[in-house]
Amino acid sequence: MDLVSEIFDAIRLGFDKTGVKETKVTVVYSARPELADFQCNSVFQAAKELGAKPLELAEKIVQNIPAVDGFEFSVCPPAFINVKVSDKRLSSELNRRNSDILLGLKQTQNPLTVVMDYGGANVAKELHIGHLRSPLIGEALARLYRLHGHKVITDTHLGDYGLQMGLTVAQLEDEGYLNGYFDSSKQNLEISLEDLNRAYPAASKRKDVEPEFRKKAEDYTLFIQNKKEPYFTIYKDIRNISIEKIKKNYGELNCFFDLWYGESTAAPYIPETINAFVSQGLARESDGALVVDVAVDGENIPTDKLDENGKVLFKNPMPPMILKKHNGADMYATSDVACIMQRNRDFAPDKIIYIVDFRQNKHFTQVFRASKLAGISPESQELIHVGFGTINGKDGKAFKTREGTTIKLEDIISMIKSKAAEKLSENGIVGDDELARQIGVAALKFGDLSNVVSKDYVFDLDRFASFEGKTGPYIQYTCARINSLLEKANEKPSEIDITTSEERGVAFALLKLTDSYYLAQNQNSLHTVCACLYDLASAFSVLYNNIKINSAETTKKRKYLAITQLVHKALAQGLYVLGMDMPNKM
Ligand code: ARG
Repeated sequence: MDLVSEIFDAIRLGFDKTGVKETKVTVVYSARPELADFQCNSVFQAAKELGAKPLELAEKIVQNIPAVDGFEFSVCPPAFINVKVSDKRLSSELNRRNSDILLGLKQTQNPLTVVMDYGGANVAKELHIGHLRSPLIGEALARLYRLHGHKVITDTHLGDYGLQMGLTVAQLEDEGYLNGYFDSSKQNLEISLEDLNRAYPAASKRKDVEPEFRKKAEDYTLFIQNKKEPYFTIYKDIRNISIEKIKKNYGELNCFFDLWYGESTAAPYIPETINAFVSQGLARESDGALVVDVAVDGENIPTDKLDENGKVLFKNPMPPMILKKHNGADMYATSDVACIMQRNRDFAPDKIIYIVDFRQNKHFTQVFRASKLAGISPESQELIHVGFGTINGKDGKAFKTREGTTIKLEDIISMIKSKAAEKLSENGIVGDDELARQIGVAALKFGDLSNVVSKDYVFDLDRFASFEGKTGPYIQYTCARINSLLEKANEKPSEIDITTSEERGVAFALLKLTDSYYLAQNQNSLHTVCACLYDLASAFSVLYNNIKINSAETTKKRKYLAITQLVHKALAQGLYVLGMDMPNKM
């Protein structure tokens, strides 16, 4: 059995035998390895519940813990239960993990079907820094869920159905790019990505000052949605050009998707969606729009304050979800509810996870509640919004270019690549673009994923790309170093046989890393995995600096190689989960 479960079971039995059956027992890694390896702090709670003296109760419980070979249980005042694990027991645990393909990670007994919605790029609009976090986090979560044995379907959910489409077409038409689509005797100008990048912002400005242009764009949007030609073909061409670019950018970040669906995929389900609300009496009219009330108790509490229009302000406001606007246009929220209907028809997922900026939290609250109300999402289905924080500059404000404009995703990717190339050249490696990409991406990902998902963080390329400290390149570097060590060893690894405190340090770092995957999945945040990977890499460095593997005599060398091999596999597993590459040299 797994070492941690074995300790837990023994302590649980001690509680039960003492007659403490109700108290929840938890066992944690001890923060003071010189005193204990694991610790149970649950006696305090039990004593409170039973009205007993904590220390006395702890002593009784420990007496009732069955003797298990390799574990030593003791009481530490005021009422902790300490656990020490013998070198031998630790060694056998690591040998077991070393021969397991998943290195001791336990797969679920209850595999779920999970749809992950991340990426969220918008067709015809340039990708920018706002599109960075979602694919990084989403890709790592998808890998993590898969590793635990769940069935994951990833969908990038393109913004491919809104006014930006009509605006772009109208602008390109005015610029003469689309002649051939309308008149076969004329030629089209080839539409390039640069044209798209220019057309949308130009059109977006025009729509605010040229009402006729705006009207045309709205008409074109409707034509596209009704598949009217040639607008629909133009739209498809624009969509394809955009997708190619998005794929390239996300691919460079090691982010991939099973499905390239989008709002347009959900669109055919909109009439049925609206009908589900109307027919169940869940929709009402409000100022010409069709809305659904989704507020629950404790929300929309009127205050005595008024807004600038003289309307009452509410505490905990939760506005109704708008199904249809007064002009009949479908809404972002309606599209997301329709998309839940589509996903349920196609995949019947147990869970749908949306990795989207935390500022869309209200939107998702509305969408989730409305979907439950109408029965579009079955009661048992879990809908989760993993809302991430903002990327800030060193000044604490949203990270921008020096000119104060939004940074393009492409530019971020080239920035990290050149920073990595610069670091590599310090190590005498020049001109290896792919290696620079791999290191740059790891720098970026670790810099991002090591933060609690919901928190903002500061974009600091120098710090992220360092080969030392808590960085992606440091983990990669440790891995590369171990790789060459194993290659040059000229001996086969034997069995792990722990005898020193440095080796114990590595052993516990390995156990914690494996546990962190489960935690990360529950938290939908990778920060603990990042911290544990760093701890393992540094525990290994301490060991490595102490043992002089290469000059050790053969028996010792072979057992050192065994633990080294396990560390290498564990770091590789971690890099894989985080979506980072594992270069052989750095
Ligand atoms: N395209 C959206 C945006 O740029 C993000 C899409 C997120 N996913 C979703 N199902 N709403 O804000």
